Amino acid sequence: MDVKKIAVIGAGVMGRGIAQTAALTGFEVIMNDIEEEALIHAYSNIEKDLKNSVEKGLLTQFDMKQALSNIKLMNRIDEAGHSVDLAIEAAVEIMEVKQDIFKQLDEFCPSHAILATNTSTMSPTEIGAVTKRASQTIAMHFFNPVPKMKLCEIIRGIETSDSTVSIAVEVANRMGKETVQVNEFPGFVPSRINALVGNEALNMLMEGVASAGDIDKAIKLGLNYPMGPLELMDVVGLDTRLRNLEYLHKYLGEKYRPCPLLYKFVAAGRLGKKVGRGIFEYGERV
Ligand code: NAI
Repeated sequence: MDVKKIAVIGAGVMGRGIAQTAALTGFEVIMNDIEEEALIHAYSNIEKDLKNSVEKGLLTQFDMKQALSNIKLMNRIDEAGHSVDLAIEAAVEIMEVKQDIFKQLDEFCPSHAILATNTSTMSPTEIGAVTKRASQTIAMHFFNPVPKMKLCEIIRGIETSDSTVSIAVEVANRMGKETVQVNEFPGFVPSRINALVGNEALNMLMEGVASAGDIDKAIKLGLNYPMGPLELMDVVGLDTRLRNLEYLHKYLGEKYRPCPLLYKFVAAGRLGKKVGRGIFEYGERV
């Protein structure tokens, strides 16, 4: 199958990055979200990011216009799914929400369409099992920020067919990504490591080992990380990271118990860059 049209369900941090990357690489993209405001914010964020690339000479005006014209916004999932070849779900990391979206996509997408989830930790088998097309379900796990990060992890569920895997790999490659194929296991590869590192950095902050700025500086300069684990948590979103850790704690045990400070930040609405404040202050929503 030649994938031409992709629906991206959920227009948050990841959805907008997937939509932008797909549109830039020539796919027609339908962006969907239950929140009208999220769709508008996502589109203006994509526009701003592409304009930045043009100003830096990384993209032509023509390519920017072409990419923007490849993106349509639709807040009804039945309309969003109705003529696509692939749907990529990038909604909140809650199993019931993902299953509900998959049920609807199964009902509204053409029978040939593949349904992928961008989950960072959860079982694609469990998500795909609510559909009547489990063989056409898979996880395509992109990384944040999607336009810059080179990897897409491909995780097949128990019922996923070989042809679904091949199509997912091909689409990821056409989007400029390298792939790795990972067997289904909570957290797959990078997220399983990253959740642990970030949680430990938060534990150190809670214990008063050093300031947030100095913990990040120590890890960047001492371990050669491009970004400190606390800032990275602000990029990921503290609510998303908390859900990741809760899931990993449930399936992989005690070492993934979320740091109590993480609950506090989330309760205070300090969700990270997407709201302008998290562990650090950013002044504006990014
Ligand atoms: P986010 O919180 O930024 O955005 C989630 C969006 O989903 C929101 O705009 C929300 O309105 C929307 N949404 C919720 N229920 C919906 C529904 N029923 N239909 C349509 N839209 C719905 O979350 P983020 O960070 O973009 O994460 C999305 C997924 O990607 C999660 O599964 C997460 O684990 C995964 N992920 C996140 C990464 C990150 O760094 N933030 C990296 C890789 C994967």
